[in-house]
Amino acid sequence: MKAFITGGTGFVGTKLTRALLDKGHEVTVLSRSEKRRPGLPAQIRLIAGDPTEHGLWQQEVPEHDVLINLAGESIFSRWNDEYKKRLRDSRILTTRNLVEAIPSDGGAVKHLLSTSAVGYYGFTGDEELGEDADPGTDFLATLAQDWEAEALKAAGKGIRVVVARFGVVLGKDGGALEQMVRPFRLFAGGPIGSGKQWFSWIHVEDLCRAALFVIEHPEISGPVNFCAPNPVRNADLADAIGNTLHRPSFIPAPGFVIKLVMGEFGSVILKGQRVVPKMLKKHGFHFNYGRIEDALNNLLSDT
Ligand SMILES: NC(=O)c1ccc[n+]([C@@H]2O[C@H](COP(=O)([O-])OP(=O)(O)OC[C@H]3O[C@@H](n4cnc5c(N)ncnc54)[C@H](OP(=O)(O)O)[C@@H]3O)[C@@H](O)[C@H]2O)c1
Repeated sequence: MKAFITGGTGFVGTKLTRALLDKGHEVTVLSRSEKRRPGLPAQIRLIAGDPTEHGLWQQEVPEHDVLINLAGESIFSRWNDEYKKRLRDSRILTTRNLVEAIPSDGGAVKHLLSTSAVGYYGFTGDEELGEDADPGTDFLATLAQDWEAEALKAAGKGIRVVVARFGVVLGKDGGALEQMVRPFRLFAGGPIGSGKQWFSWIHVEDLCRAALFVIEHPEISGPVNFCAPNPVRNADLADAIGNTLHRPSFIPAPGFVIKLVMGEFGSVILKGQRVVPKMLKKHGFHFNYGRIEDALNNLLSDT
């Protein structure tokens, strides 16, 4: 199979690219930079282009069987109006341009796996959220809905579309985990805000396996939650990190400090959602890291 990936140079993309190559697939990565970043496998074909703009890169798209859409400016930052526009444009325009590049008869393209996020559901309480749960109304939830709507337009060209609602992806060498464990390493870790908010997460290795699983199962389409079957409350997450690193986990980070430092993005940390992978489980996907303790042991025990 020939795969075309936007955002393939990022934290998830470099690992997913490797997983595709290991399975014998050919991979083309679209990047705004012509330079090969460290960690990007040598076997990939790198093409330069900005997915937020029309360009020659779009001519490459019809030659591929599977499109994987990962591009997006990082949300892990303080947001102002200009940054929020970048968050939107880097997702909406990218997805729109990718879908526009698919010929009306589909060409060779058969599958589109397009990223979304559990932020789709907004900030909710204790109820478990499967793929059929209602969307939220905050900035990230609205963004996720618009992002998914752009991807789903490819179905009109006969393409199977999966929108992969990622939980927070845990892995080595970047991503959220590195930032989350920093205070614990300094003996200053603990629950954030009330500590009761839910945290939906996935080990990056399971995410890559789930992406391959979904690609290989044509009967799966539409929204799919890419998160482990056991989301945790923030206080339990803090305990699990502390136990794994043999560090204290009782020093709280008050909500007002988080809001002061992180601004609007602070809400994402202080609130959460309890998302479960109903579709993946229904289709028989097996998680290697279903419990947070197992994931953290694997990712942090030798650090
Ligand atoms: N990591 C998580 O915990 C998590 C959770 C939920 C959802 N997601 C979503 O999953 C996707 C992949 O996540 P990731 O952690 O791998 O992200 P990442 O490491 O930040 O990489 C994203 C890639 O998108 C491209 N990109 C960044 N800003 C862009 C912009 N302004 N315009 C066009 N392209 C841009 C970059 O590629 P080039 O620089 O090569 O062009 C970058 O390598 C993202 O869309 C993210 O929102 C991630």
